[in-house]
Amino acid sequence: MAARIVVLGNINQDFVMRAERMPRPGETILGDDLRFVAGGKGANQSVTAARLGAQVALIGCVGRDAFGPTLLDNLRREGVDTQHVGLDDDIATGAAFIALAPDGQNSILSVGGANMAVTPQHVEAAAPAIAQADMCLVQFAVPIESVERFIALAREHDVPVLLDPTPAMDRLPVNWHQASILTPNETETEYVIGYVCPDRATAVQAAREIHSRGVNIAVVKQGPDGCIVCDADGCRLVGGYRVDVVDTTGAGDAFAAGLGVALAEGLPVNQALAFANACGALACTRFGAQTSLPHRSEVEALLADRGGLAGATVTALT
Ligand code: RIB
Repeated sequence: MAARIVVLGNINQDFVMRAERMPRPGETILGDDLRFVAGGKGANQSVTAARLGAQVALIGCVGRDAFGPTLLDNLRREGVDTQHVGLDDDIATGAAFIALAPDGQNSILSVGGANMAVTPQHVEAAAPAIAQADMCLVQFAVPIESVERFIALAREHDVPVLLDPTPAMDRLPVNWHQASILTPNETETEYVIGYVCPDRATAVQAAREIHSRGVNIAVVKQGPDGCIVCDADGCRLVGGYRVDVVDTTGAGDAFAAGLGVALAEGLPVNQALAFANACGALACTRFGAQTSLPHRSEVEALLADRGGLAGATVTALT
């Protein structure tokens, strides 16, 4: 049976421009090649999970404007259940303005818009779906009170929660440590435990600290090097997959969804992380957010090409 995944998160219209470099404060520079791409971390995670074969329901909100209904249609075409996505008459659909540098790195300025209209009551209405899920996925791109209610509801029903602590928010959900899995990158650790991880030793320390606060599987992503994990079996580095990078947008979302689906399907942690690394790597090989998210067959092909899941490099860390 397909893994049942419920996602709480944002749905954005992404406006993507290429630029030779980022503007300095007060400066205007010319970008080029403006593209409109479906995005938003919640929507991206939902689409990835659906492309990996999961049965997915998304809790979110869009505006009844030029973008919202089209984004909703797009999600439905991907097989995502949108019955818990609201259509707001008064607030604009969330948007992200993304500047893409020649090396594939991006800078994102995002506006919450209708995403900030997702209330705890809205989450409450999806309780029956949450209760039946195998895994819940959430980030910080909707109001924190709603994230708190989502984590609490999932835990009441013994459903594991994967929390991807991004984007930066003023405050953390009070129950963040009740997430079963936490997946910051080297800078996002700052929102959770107060410091960034410029090197591997600090990342190991951060993963240990997050685990010690109650998170079963504490992950600190290491970009193309893979990810550091700390769980009941200790700390280790699960190696990533080198690819030709076109655009890193959505890679973190693909990683989170890949990890959530793999764990929900019952893969052991190391193999689930290798699967997630492959999902994140593939999302870097194409332009845009939802335009780049991998299908199951592509993930399996990449893994087969690199020695299979069992062949993933796992290095114990002390
Ligand atoms: O993680 C990538 C996403 O972040 C983009 O699609 C954009 O919408 C922002 O929310």
